[in-house]
Amino acid sequence: MPTRREILMSTGALAGVSMLPANAKPLASAVQDEVPIPGSVDKALNIWDLKAMARERLTEGHFAAIAGGAADEITIRWNREGFDKIRLRPKVLIDPTQIDTRTTLFGQEHAYPVLLGPTGGHRSTHPDGELATARGANHANATMVLSTFSSTAIEEVVQVATNPLWFQLYVMRDRPFNRDLVLRAQAAGAKAVCVTVDTATSGPRNRQTRGRQRSSPSGGGGQPLLQGMKRSTSVESDIFSASREPNLTWKDIDWLRSFTQVPLLLKGILDAEDAERAIQEGVDGLIVSNHGGRNLDTSQATIEALPEIVEKVDGRIPVLIDGGIRRGTDVFKALALGAKAVLIGRPYRYGLAAGGAPGVSRVLEILRRELEMTMASTGRTSIAQIDRSVLWS
Ligand code: FNR
Repeated sequence: MPTRREILMSTGALAGVSMLPANAKPLASAVQDEVPIPGSVDKALNIWDLKAMARERLTEGHFAAIAGGAADEITIRWNREGFDKIRLRPKVLIDPTQIDTRTTLFGQEHAYPVLLGPTGGHRSTHPDGELATARGANHANATMVLSTFSSTAIEEVVQVATNPLWFQLYVMRDRPFNRDLVLRAQAAGAKAVCVTVDTATSGPRNRQTRGRQRSSPSGGGGQPLLQGMKRSTSVESDIFSASREPNLTWKDIDWLRSFTQVPLLLKGILDAEDAERAIQEGVDGLIVSNHGGRNLDTSQATIEALPEIVEKVDGRIPVLIDGGIRRGTDVFKALALGAKAVLIGRPYRYGLAAGGAPGVSRVLEILRRELEMTMASTGRTSIAQIDRSVLWS
C-alpha cells in the first residue's frame, strides 16, 4: 500500500519540498499513511477537480442543490473574488521545515484550522451520508459540524467519529423541541452548538429549483433529528418554512443559553454591530457567514466583512468564517485577517459525491497541504505567526 508521501510524490504534490533531508520531521500528515485512497479521488489535485467529479456522478438536481445559491449567485462569486483579490507577501530564507498548524478552540485542539461546516442531507450525495463524512473527517483528523437537517441520527455519527462533533441548530417553530434537540446533541457528546441565525427565510434558489424540476432528485435520506417535531399547518407567508422558526430574535439568546451547556456560537454574522450585540448577549463565538451565498444574494463577501467584525470583537471571543474557501491560501488569508478557523461547505460535499469518505479526506488533505505550503512560502511556521503583515497592503 502506498504511503502518503509516495502518493503525494506520485501526484507531484511534494515537488516543492523535495529538498527536505531524509531525517527531517515530516510535515504533519492529514491522512494516516495506511488509509487506502481508492478510485479516482487521489487524482484530484484541487477542489475544482473534485467538483468536476461530483458533477459527473450526481443528478443535475442533486448537483444543483449543492453548488447553487440564491438568485443570480453574485454572492457566491464575490465570496471567491474576495479571496482572489488579496495579495500575499512571501518571505524568504526562513527555515520552513517544522510547520505546526495546530490551533485551539474552546479548549479543543484542532490539528489544523479547518472544520467541516454544517450541511443537511448527506445521503442525497452519497449512500453512506454523514457516516462517510465522519469517516473522512476521522482520516483527516478534522471536526465535523452536524446539521439539524442531518440525514443520519447524531448517535450513529458519534459512534463513527473519532474527533469531537459540533452540532448546528436551526431553531424550529416547535420551541420545546429545540431544547430536547440540544440536550440530545449534548448527551451524544457535541462539544459546541452553532445556532444559524441567517435563515429566517432562504433565498430564491433558482438553480436548485430548476435542477429539481429537470431531474427530480430522490433519496435525501430523511431528517431523523426532527422525528417527533410538530410542524405548522399554516404559515404567515410562503417565504417562510413550516418547520424553521422565522421569528428568532435577540431575546431568544438567553433562552438558548439556558439549556446549552457547551460553547454557543452564532452562525451567519456579517455585520459588526450584530457581532457586538452577540457578545453583549453572552455568546461564546461567531461564524462570519453568508450561508455560502444561498440566502441573501448580493450580501457582502465574508472575507470582506471579516476585518470590521474582528476589529469590533477585539479578541473577546473567537471569530470563525466560511464561504468560498477553496484553497489553502484562502484559509491562510482568513487567519491573517483575524479568523481563528474556517469552515467549508460545498468542497467536502463534492468530495463526498466523488468518492465517499476518501473523497472527504482528500478535500481536507488538499486544503491542509496547501495551507502548509503557504506557511512555508511566507515564513510563518505556526498559526500564531499568521497576521496582517503577511498581506501585501
Ligand atoms: C449548507 N449550509 C448550511 N448551513 C447551516 O447552518 N445548516 C445547514 O443545514 C446547511 N445546509 C447546507 C447544505 C448545502 C448543500 C450547502 C452547500 C450549504 C451552509 C454551510 O454551512 C456554509 O455556510 C456554506 O456552505 C459555506 O460556503 P461554501 O464553503 O459552501 O462556499
